[in-house]
Amino acid sequence: MELESLVRRAETQVFEAPDLDSLAEIERGLVGKKGELTQLKKTLGSLAPDERRAAGQSLNDALGQVVEAVQVRRKTLATAAEVAQLQSERLDLTEVMSNERRGHLHLVTQARDRLEDVFVGMGFTVAEGPEVETAWYNFEALNIPEWHPARGTFDTIFVDLGEPEEVMMRAHTSPVQIRTMENQKPPIYIVAPGRTFRTDTADATHLPAFNQIEGLVIDRGIGLGDLAGTIDSFVKAFFGHDVKTRLRPSYFPFTEPSAEFDISTPSGDWLELGGCGVVHPAVLQNCGIDPEEWQGFAFGFGIDRLAVMRYQLDDIRELVNNDVRFLSQF
Ligand code: PHE
Repeated sequence: MELESLVRRAETQVFEAPDLDSLAEIERGLVGKKGELTQLKKTLGSLAPDERRAAGQSLNDALGQVVEAVQVRRKTLATAAEVAQLQSERLDLTEVMSNERRGHLHLVTQARDRLEDVFVGMGFTVAEGPEVETAWYNFEALNIPEWHPARGTFDTIFVDLGEPEEVMMRAHTSPVQIRTMENQKPPIYIVAPGRTFRTDTADATHLPAFNQIEGLVIDRGIGLGDLAGTIDSFVKAFFGHDVKTRLRPSYFPFTEPSAEFDISTPSGDWLELGGCGVVHPAVLQNCGIDPEEWQGFAFGFGIDRLAVMRYQLDDIRELVNNDVRFLSQF
């Protein structure tokens, strides 16, 4: 009877063992070398031989019960420990990361990209030229000789390099016309966006460093009608189909005839966008192109002003103040 209650107590201890370590300790206390049940075995010797057999049998049964209980508990605890470890080492791949904000392209870059897209869609390719130019590309090849008063209208920033007034920051993207015609045989259909520079003081409508996009088409039988049609298609693609365009007579030394082109505003006014015209024969000749065989048109306008119009900014300087609070709105 004593043995029975011992087994029951042992089983309770075993099944209440909270973890594998304490289970091992309990096991040692029961069936280890000096364990309670092991100790009992030693008392068998003092029994009479006929009693010894029966007592030995029940002791063995009791030992077997306890050992089995320990095995069962050990399995349960081992499984629980494994589950706990898996839980603690689990990677939560569904975790929502902190709401880090991604930046975006600058307004002017967005406008420039869209312009390129529209013109590429119309069959143009994109050309580029350097921001520092010689007098040949910025003026002379464009039919603006040194004595020409038109030089004065381009408030040029000269660079301290070579002969005086020989090297300068380009005052417009028109030099890319010359570079393209020098390097490429007609037919030519290019647009050339890029930075341009004048001595203008920055104010609400001017920047000393600004962006233009130049267009140049050289092909056979090209005339003013092609120019007007191209500008109209571009403006409708860029601003929408309700926007109208018009050409106003103007003067540029490198085009003849020359015009300013305007677009209509929702309020019914006209807004000047840029200059354009039929490429002057002298310019073609300067680039080794025969004006009898090839004709063309060119246009150029400010990208920054376009961004100002598109987003209805009050002040063009916002584009270069680089205030993130302002820029992140667009
Ligand atoms: N380059 C001229 C300007 O900056 C614009 C223009 C380009 C005019 C091409 C005619 C043809 O004002």
